[in-house]
Amino acid sequence: MSEPTASTTMEKIVSLAKRRGFIFQSSEIYGGLNSCWDYGPLGVELKNNVKRAWWRKVVQERDDMAGLDASILMHPRVWEASGHVAGFSDPMVDCKSCKQRFRADHLEGDRCPACGGELTEARQFNLMFKTFMGPVEDSASVVYLRPETAQGIFVNFNNVQTTTRMKLPFGIAQIGKSFRNEITPGNFTFRTREFEQMEIEYFVKPGSDEQLHQEWMERRFQWYLDLGLTKDRLRLRPHASDELAHYAKGCYDIEYFFPMGWSELEGIANRTDFDLKRHAEYSGQRIDYFDQEANEHYVPYVIEPSAGADRGTLAFLLDAYHEEPDKDEVRVVLKFHRALAPYKVAILPLSKKEPLVNMAKDIEKELRKYWMVDYDDSKAIGRRYRRQDEIGTPYCVTIDFQSLEDNAVTIRDRDTMEQERIPVAELSKYLWDKLSW
Ligand code: GAP
Repeated sequence: MSEPTASTTMEKIVSLAKRRGFIFQSSEIYGGLNSCWDYGPLGVELKNNVKRAWWRKVVQERDDMAGLDASILMHPRVWEASGHVAGFSDPMVDCKSCKQRFRADHLEGDRCPACGGELTEARQFNLMFKTFMGPVEDSASVVYLRPETAQGIFVNFNNVQTTTRMKLPFGIAQIGKSFRNEITPGNFTFRTREFEQMEIEYFVKPGSDEQLHQEWMERRFQWYLDLGLTKDRLRLRPHASDELAHYAKGCYDIEYFFPMGWSELEGIANRTDFDLKRHAEYSGQRIDYFDQEANEHYVPYVIEPSAGADRGTLAFLLDAYHEEPDKDEVRVVLKFHRALAPYKVAILPLSKKEPLVNMAKDIEKELRKYWMVDYDDSKAIGRRYRRQDEIGTPYCVTIDFQSLEDNAVTIRDRDTMEQERIPVAELSKYLWDKLSW
């Protein structure tokens, strides 16, 4: 099968993201901090919308899921039980000449790719960030910034199960920050040292795990399609046995065709009963499930769809990017799904003067009760449309002098560029119908 084409280049997206306020370099006035990024006014809306769309699909719309927000700092024994202290590491080599550090498994030859110098032997490098809890910096006060949100779910299995009284199969979902001291971060927000995960641990009766693994793969794949990612740029890839994490019986990656090629958006693993059993062993607590129908206790298996909120946001941003011919120029338009667009509506009055501006402000105030709304009254209307297209606003509402007489406004659709005249009294209802999802 031939490779798809990427929607655009990373350079164009990095530049648009900065120019329009989606994503800035962290600590930019100090020269930036490698691999750390800040979401600006439009970026935070976009990423929040991605997280909302995920939560709605996997928690709100399901009767077998519950949410959780566990703390980032956890008891250090958690990471011994999970295997992260012993095994969460990458093989790493240093160049003896230029001192750069590389992942051994990412190198093609046995020389430094930067300067051709000689490399050291590979050493294991643990990816967890360490810090100290309390005023004394000794080995007894070491804690870690969590490298995955999953463990917060496993250690709360008993709490959630007993308080919700959910029966298997059921799942716990969580969105939150994770930290990994990646050796080779890069490709904008694709691989960073601080990132946000959207994770589900779905607990199942052993024996039903393979079927439910399959179902979650299909469901999660469909979520990206429903939110508008191009089908040709999405694929499911099974892990080879030497790629599997230490806890997994099987794993599939949902991959997107980023400008740098096929790369992971989300992993969907069958973690078996590894984690619950390990936490029972390390904590000395009983962690299992009583199946009333079968009248037996057992440790559930776990299916884990684990997505990256930043990677998802980057994929939606890239995929939305379109350049279209527009007379002698190029129209840049972000064709976001309506659920994801940072602003849903822009109010564009044709004059800055009263009474037109009063009418525009009243409409803005009304629509702000329901949606993020932008208000733009500067420069020619054509330029204002282009500015909204470039940030993906699905609808522009123009208020003109005629509006003062007929109490109607013009709505312009971002994708078709068609315009319709609507009475102001019907505007909210019209937009509700168009924007609901
Ligand atoms: N609990 C399982 C787990 O953490 P993972 O494949 O290591 O599995 C899951 O991570 C997802 O988290 C990835 O598919 C990716 O979207 C996101 N992710 C992982 N490392 C990341 C990083 N350094 N920067 C941005 N996102 C990352």
